[in-house]
Amino acid sequence: MSLDWNGYLARQNGRLQLESVPLAEVAHAHGTPCYVYSRAALEDAYQGYVSALAGRDTLICYAVKANSNLAILNLFARLGAGFDIVSGGELARVLAAGGDAGKIVFSGVGKTRAEMRAALAAGIYCFNVESASELESLNEVAGSLGLRAPIALRVNPDVDPKTHPYIATGLKSSKFGVAIDEALSLYHRAQAMPHLDIRGVACHIGSQLLDPAPIAEAATKIIDLADALSREGIALAHLDLGGGKGVNYRADEATPNTVDYLAPLLAALSGRRERLLFEPGRSLVGAAGLLLTRIEILKHGSEKNFAVVDAAMNDLARPALYDAWHEIVAVAAPADDVKTATYDVVGPICESGDFLGQGRELAVAEGDLLAVLSAGAYGMAMSSNYNTRPRAAEVMVSGSQMHLIRRRETLDQLFALESVLS
Ligand code: LLP
Repeated sequence: MSLDWNGYLARQNGRLQLESVPLAEVAHAHGTPCYVYSRAALEDAYQGYVSALAGRDTLICYAVKANSNLAILNLFARLGAGFDIVSGGELARVLAAGGDAGKIVFSGVGKTRAEMRAALAAGIYCFNVESASELESLNEVAGSLGLRAPIALRVNPDVDPKTHPYIATGLKSSKFGVAIDEALSLYHRAQAMPHLDIRGVACHIGSQLLDPAPIAEAATKIIDLADALSREGIALAHLDLGGGKGVNYRADEATPNTVDYLAPLLAALSGRRERLLFEPGRSLVGAAGLLLTRIEILKHGSEKNFAVVDAAMNDLARPALYDAWHEIVAVAAPADDVKTATYDVVGPICESGDFLGQGRELAVAEGDLLAVLSAGAYGMAMSSNYNTRPRAAEVMVSGSQMHLIRRRETLDQLFALESVLS
C-alpha cells in the first residue's frame, strides 16, 4: 500500500492483511460492515508526537471526537495521553476508559452548566473557554461548587488553514473561539472573576491540514498574545495549539510526518517556557483504521457501473458530507476471469449522496470484500442509524490477535427506546 500505513497493511499471497490478521478472517468472524484498527499503527502515531516533542514539557490531548471507542481511549490513556473533550458524554467515556481527569481539556462553544459541573467535579486540567458569556457562567458554576475553574481562552488567530470550509475553524468568520484582538480585555475580565484560574491560551485553526505553515503562523500570533498578557501581569502556564494535522487519503498525497509537520511550529516556539499542549485527533487514528465491506451486487448500467456494498453513508459519512476521498481496495487478489471496470462504490441507502467512492478501477465480483482505507478518524464516530441500519462492529488487531471492541448493534437495540401510544 502506498498510503501512510507504515507497513501494517500488506498483501500476503494476494490477500490483504492488517498486522498479521487476514481481513477475510475478520469478516468471517465478525461480519461486515466492520471497522478494523491496527493497535501498532495507533501506538506508532502516538509515538510520532512523543518523538517530535521530546525534551519539551508537553501534553498530548487526543481529540476524542475522532474516534471515541473505549478500547482506543484506553490504549492512549495507557500511553500517557491526555484528552480533548467536547461534551459530558466524552468526559464520561474518557473516565470509563481509565483516562486521567487531570489531563483533560474541555473545548466547545456550547458547554452546558451540567457539563461544566461534571467536569469540575471530575477535576479536569482546563476549560477552553470560547466566549465572554461562558466565562460568566463557568465562574458562577465553579462558585456554586466552592471551586475554581482552570481556564484558557480559545482565541481565533484568523489564519487560513487551507482546508475544506466545513473543517476550517480559525477564521474570523468562524463560530469558534474569541477574536484575538478581544482576548486581552477578556483575560482581564477573567482575572477579576473570583472562581476562575487563568492557566493558558488555546487555538485550533482547522482539520486535515497538510501544510505546516498556517499552524506556525498561528503560533506566532499566540506568542504575541502571551507576551502582551505577561506585560500586563497575566502569566500563562501553557499554550495549546490544537489539533489539525492531516493524513494521507489518496495515494498521491504526501502528508509530512509528525516531526516535519511540527518543526516550523516548534522553531517558532523555541525558548518559550510555557508547557505545550496539542489536541490531535485524525493524525492519531485516521490511518490506523479501515472499513471492511462486502459487495452485494454489481450493477452494470449504460453510463455507469455500480458496486453496491453493505456499508453506506450511515457508516462512513465523509464522502457524502465533505466529498472526501478514501482509497478503496479489494481484499483478495482478483480471479483470472475477473475484468477491471470503473465503479461507483455505493451503499444501499435511499440517497444519491450515498457513495463511498466514485469512478474507482476495481477487478471484483459479487461477494468480494473491499477495504475503505484511512477510515479510523471521523468514521465510526460520525456513524448513524439512518435507514434503521445497525452500526458496524469494531475490531482491533494486534499482531496475530483480533479483539472485538464493539459488537454490531442488533435491531432490537435500535428501537428499544421507542414506544407506541397507549
Ligand atoms: N481540537 C478542536 C477544538 C477541534 O475542534 C478538533 C476537530 C480537534 C482538536 C481535532 O482535530 P484533528 O486533529 O482531528 O484535525 N469530521 C471532520 C473533521 C472535524 C474536525 C472537528 N474538530 C472530518 O471528517 O474531516
